[in-house]
Amino acid sequence: MQDYREFLEEILIPADTLQERIRELGQEISRDYAGKDLLLVCILRGGVMFLTDLMRSIDVPHNIEFMAISSYGTGARESSGNVQIKLDLATPIEDRNVLIVEDIIDSGHTLTSVINFLNTRRPKSLRICALLDKVERREVEVPIDYRGFTIPNKFVFGYGLDLDEYYRDLPFIGVVRTDKLQGVE
Ligand code: PRP
Repeated sequence: MQDYREFLEEILIPADTLQERIRELGQEISRDYAGKDLLLVCILRGGVMFLTDLMRSIDVPHNIEFMAISSYGTGARESSGNVQIKLDLATPIEDRNVLIVEDIIDSGHTLTSVINFLNTRRPKSLRICALLDKVERREVEVPIDYRGFTIPNKFVFGYGLDLDEYYRDLPFIGVVRTDKLQGVE
């Protein structure tokens, strides 16, 4: 695979801006959940970087869990609305305060399905923490309780978000060069 710089149009959110905002979100979450039980549910794979930084900014005791969802069809960049649970939680969430940690909300189909699915298990509360909100693309309303950044309708990668499954490790959010998008699935 080529160097990420070949695909980078611009850095949309630099690493220090990301980290600063994540610290603020962590403080807000810590205030809201002080004295309460808290379970962070990370949606794989994109949410991993965000989860690990966010949890270091949360100073109330909490647990973590993971879910994997298939939201995009093979080779497509559009959410189909057909989501499948690929990996379910390992512990019950009944009567727990669940906070979903997601890297990006685009059409909103993935989160809507996850919310509906988790609500059947009767958590005490269910909230959403999303790092990126690509609001122009929304097709179904999603109640975002903690939002990192609202971003324009551009194809972004880095900090958990992939380009053909690569570059999730980058510490910033970058915009993909449009001339490089053809042929990249
Ligand atoms: C991305 C993202 C969300 C979903 C958002 O996941 O992490 O789960 O798409 O899109 P939506 O709002 O249009 O439903 P993706 O399927 O790319 O998987 P990944 O996190 O493993 O890269």
